[in-house]
Amino acid sequence: MGQPQQPDQAEAEEAGAGEPDAGHSPVEAAGGGAGKPPLRVGMVGYSFMGAAHSQGWRTAGHVFDLPLSPVLSAVCGRDGQAVRAMADRHGWAATETDWRNLIARDDIDLVDICTPGDSHADIALAALAAGKHVLCEKPLANTVEEAEAMAGAAEGAYKRGQLAMVGFNYRRVPATALARRMVAEGRLGALRHVRVTYLQDWLVDPEFPLTWRLRKESAGSGALGDLGAHIVDLAQYLAGEPVTGVSALMETFVRERPLPAGAAGGLAFAGGTAGRGAVTVDDTALFTGRFASGAVASFEATRFATGRKNALRIELNGERGSLAFDLERLNELSYHDHTEPAAHAGFRRILVTEPDHPYLDAWWPPGHGLGYEHTFVHQARDLVHAVAAGTRPEPSFADGLQVQRVLAAVEESAAKNSVYTPTDTPTAV
Ligand SMILES: NC(=O)c1ccc[n+]([C@@H]2O[C@H](COP(=O)([O-])OP(=O)(O)OC[C@H]3O[C@@H](n4cnc5c(N)ncnc54)[C@H](O)[C@@H]3O)[C@@H](O)[C@H]2O)c1
Repeated sequence: MGQPQQPDQAEAEEAGAGEPDAGHSPVEAAGGGAGKPPLRVGMVGYSFMGAAHSQGWRTAGHVFDLPLSPVLSAVCGRDGQAVRAMADRHGWAATETDWRNLIARDDIDLVDICTPGDSHADIALAALAAGKHVLCEKPLANTVEEAEAMAGAAEGAYKRGQLAMVGFNYRRVPATALARRMVAEGRLGALRHVRVTYLQDWLVDPEFPLTWRLRKESAGSGALGDLGAHIVDLAQYLAGEPVTGVSALMETFVRERPLPAGAAGGLAFAGGTAGRGAVTVDDTALFTGRFASGAVASFEATRFATGRKNALRIELNGERGSLAFDLERLNELSYHDHTEPAAHAGFRRILVTEPDHPYLDAWWPPGHGLGYEHTFVHQARDLVHAVAAGTRPEPSFADGLQVQRVLAAVEESAAKNSVYTPTDTPTAV
């Protein structure tokens, strides 16, 4: 779990990062929270998720009436110049180039981890040991062993009044939160099927470079940990119970790719090459699973579904009805009430923009829809409420560990010709 210092990190430290940016103070950065106690956030990682989480922290207090006011106190990245530019754009008051220094700051209450999976455990464990609350991006870790250590530390920290949450933001789409409410109300009756796919296509080009998401040592796994983690969490959240076993297939279609010329992350084509290297993760993972209730599930995660950009689709079929959701139409939830007379029963579209739908009493009038970034605003909102109340946030690190066990069982099953593999079996793949 060691995290060696990167060359650009050392250079940036020499360049003097760590001082507050002139013209910014945490109070100015907070906004919308006059008179409220602050929740001072320090974020590690400043690219895709760093930008999304910044939006969340910046906006939550302007939209929702929060008990604490989020303050964008400091952001950390290894390139001092780049992280300063990001801090200026997104309203962070100060910058750091080593996450250890960020954690050591006494003006930080919560550490928000937006780095690749290989640093999640080190940063989270250190932050919890330093008395901070933690929000950690998904998947919780790269291995079950790391996730176990993190869940154990989070449990100990909870007894000291600290909270830890995983960034499974798709629970926070109003339509998925409404689906959860409807399942909990019993509208589907006994659940029979959960059918879920998460389809993207940004890896179809064999010349797309070998970024961190394509290397096992940095990402843990490929489509499985990147997309599969989301759909396992969402399926379990909506079903209200864990997956107990899986049978899986995994495949890597393009086994060698150009090395990125410089530091490259994200999903965009980075360009430039300096030789080629082996892809050490899956390009796709397909698996079936069982729930303890007797319901069955199917999962498909791929970054090779040509034409599909961010197509997370889930359908639940129960004895009394069905629900269906598509992330590419995220203001809508489809519902079929099977107790209605067959003559006029059928799927109907619920436009999830009413004030009594989850999160929507604080947003726009009915019909004025939300988007992807609002899930991060809702994530910040929910965590702020949990911190103020001292209640366990969901999804907890224990929930993140459970997802990690499913991912590990998928890898084990795929390595054994798809043999059915219980999720509670200790796994070393
Ligand atoms: N919730 C979601 O929908 C969602 C979407 C994308 C990514 N993610 C997760 O978020 C995390 C980050 O992914 P991303 O897409 O933002 O990646 P990215 O490549 O866009 O950004 C990663 C950032 O981490 C920084 N970083 C890497 N190692 C570091 C270290 N040791 N110290 C400080 N900074 C470091 C990089 O410089 C970069 O700023 C991953 O765990 C990923 O699985 C979640």
